[in-house]
Amino acid sequence: MEFQAEWITNSRETGSICPVFRKQWKTKQPVKKAVLYLTALGVYEARLNGKPVGEEVLAPGWTVYEKRLQYQTYDLTPLLEASNELRILLGKGWFRSPMPGWMETEDQKRRAVQPGGILGEIHLTYTDGSTEVLASDESWEWAESQVLFSEIYDGEIYDAEEKTEAFESVKLLDWSKEILIPQEGERIREMEVVEAKEVFTAPNGETIVDFGQEITGYVEFTVAARAGARVRFTHGEVLDAEGNFYNENYRSAKASVCYTCREGVQTWHPRLTFFGFRYIRLEEFPGTPSPRQFRGIAVYSELKRTGELSCSNEKLNQLFSNIFWGQKGNFLDVPTDCPQRDERLGWTGDAQVFVKAASYNYDVEKFFIKWLHDLGAAQRADGAVGQVIPDYLPEGAPSAAWGDAAAICPWQIYLTYGNPKVLRDQFESMKKWVDYITNATKEADLWIGGTHFGDWLGLDAPAGSYKGSSREDFIASAFYAHSTELLVKTGKVLGKEVGDYEKLQQRIVEKFRQTFPDCRTQTEYVLAIWFGLAENPKDFADKLAKMIERDGTQMKTGFVGTPYLLHVLSKYGHTELAYSLLLREEYPSWLYPVEKGATTIWEHWDGIMPDGKFWSPDMNSFNHYAYGAVADWIYEEAAGIHTMEEAPGFARVYVEPKPDRRLQWLKASIQTRHGLVESKWTVTDAGIRFEITVDMPAVIRISGMERTVEPGSYTFWG
Ligand code: BGC
Repeated sequence: MEFQAEWITNSRETGSICPVFRKQWKTKQPVKKAVLYLTALGVYEARLNGKPVGEEVLAPGWTVYEKRLQYQTYDLTPLLEASNELRILLGKGWFRSPMPGWMETEDQKRRAVQPGGILGEIHLTYTDGSTEVLASDESWEWAESQVLFSEIYDGEIYDAEEKTEAFESVKLLDWSKEILIPQEGERIREMEVVEAKEVFTAPNGETIVDFGQEITGYVEFTVAARAGARVRFTHGEVLDAEGNFYNENYRSAKASVCYTCREGVQTWHPRLTFFGFRYIRLEEFPGTPSPRQFRGIAVYSELKRTGELSCSNEKLNQLFSNIFWGQKGNFLDVPTDCPQRDERLGWTGDAQVFVKAASYNYDVEKFFIKWLHDLGAAQRADGAVGQVIPDYLPEGAPSAAWGDAAAICPWQIYLTYGNPKVLRDQFESMKKWVDYITNATKEADLWIGGTHFGDWLGLDAPAGSYKGSSREDFIASAFYAHSTELLVKTGKVLGKEVGDYEKLQQRIVEKFRQTFPDCRTQTEYVLAIWFGLAENPKDFADKLAKMIERDGTQMKTGFVGTPYLLHVLSKYGHTELAYSLLLREEYPSWLYPVEKGATTIWEHWDGIMPDGKFWSPDMNSFNHYAYGAVADWIYEEAAGIHTMEEAPGFARVYVEPKPDRRLQWLKASIQTRHGLVESKWTVTDAGIRFEITVDMPAVIRISGMERTVEPGSYTFWG
């Protein structure tokens, strides 16, 4: 769309006070339709005649703003009156934020001082067919709003006391309109309400509200107060060993809210920021707080739930719930590592690790397509992919297993949903990434050298390091092979010439085998097997199984190895061991955090240690979805629901459940583009009963017997 509108901004500096813009007009003749197109350099909230113009929050969302800025479209018709006032409140959002909080980069400084602004057009169509456009220009006005401060990490300050507003003329702002694109991702919305469970006094005397569930969003409260009284609170995820409020792990993010009341009963929530939290600590609150006065509002991208997981083990069910909540809490327009500390960035490694589980749990096709467009837009001149997208760490070295999101994510989105569009859109970006490695390596046909995150948070890390012991050149070369393989497959789907890459891939495999004939760590075994690099994968898998047993039947893997660990075991005859790892309750394991009361997935298996102490506050998120990737093993291996590369999007499905008698039953389902696939198994005295429903043709394999079936519901015994 061609915009006639101009960018407008406040005519003078307001310090931290958020400006509100307005356009007033009178309806001259009967209106058939009124449409608003709106965007901002920052985040906005728009109201017509006091009512929200739509359900969107934190619009226009987060993209690579230098190149792509979404605008939203709203139907104003039902809100029109004889005299109209459109008001647009503008916050800093991601656009002017000092992200990330632990660094001071040139890019950050640039961002912090760049001007905010809005651009909007109201298109009126009258009943006689004539039209009129009210485009943002010098006739629009602005004033200081009651939001005295709002920022992604630090929170919001609001003054609800009555005051007279002084509107002034806006200033035009010279900013590109070329960057404008229509809304591409899912809308960000208030998706769920979580009522407060309890208000209690902690041992140290502080007043704490517990929502019983870690969410991402904000707290809405209702309070009866005298004018000038204050509500002040800070967000936290967990309580410490004594049961006191704790949020040192937010690092520099203040994550607090301060609200000055007007007279009377009032309900309010922040509008231009969000938090990751389960608890709030009330620092000031008029009267005696009761749970009924607080509601947690979960804000995330409007994703449709497609996956269901359940079983006879309540702890596993809690793990499943934590995985879903981990996704909801981190799929707020961009797949972020975490929603609470001074980070909340679109870490490529985390997204890559979780994309498969994410795509079964929810319909994330649109969500990922948008983010991948940003990944492509942010790709550096030499093809390097940033550590985070949008690339708020432009000086950060491209790391193996992080940059590979460029190939892994599109391929998975294609497999899950079957639409080659994502491959078409990303093909050039994938190629550039592979070429980047080809040019960056110190030795042809491997990826040697570079600065990487290694097997991030691997449990075999030497003391004091976050990186596991797996060799970085090993990991980097393995991912080089994998991304090249995915590029070749993509090229074949699209009918592109990829012969040279096919040869490259073969050379990488050969050279890899010569260079890394043995594996030294669990993660090395996992990668060699899963990426087709091991000459004899079964032999490697047996060795891996022995290594795990020697290690005390516990994983030592980190970000890079963990997602594939159980897959590799169950694929090569070690299903029982895979279940042993899954069902383990002591640290380190998926169920240990559950034992400790987790309601989302933790960054560290021992974010809270057995003695109740915390992992160092410098990196201890309690809502880090990455290890929730284990969900894809539950769908694919435990329940047996597999995509087929030759029939992507579940046009056909391969079902091969792998039960374990330590559970009485397990059930998984995915609502796919071709209908439902559901698989349940139950351990009975007469053997194991398998109940499988498929809306698409399927190949079902049970107890070594394979059958090709039409859509329908089937029961088998095994
Ligand atoms: C983030 C991660 C990320 C990592 C990269 C951390 O600070 O939270 O999840 O992938 O850095 O090393």
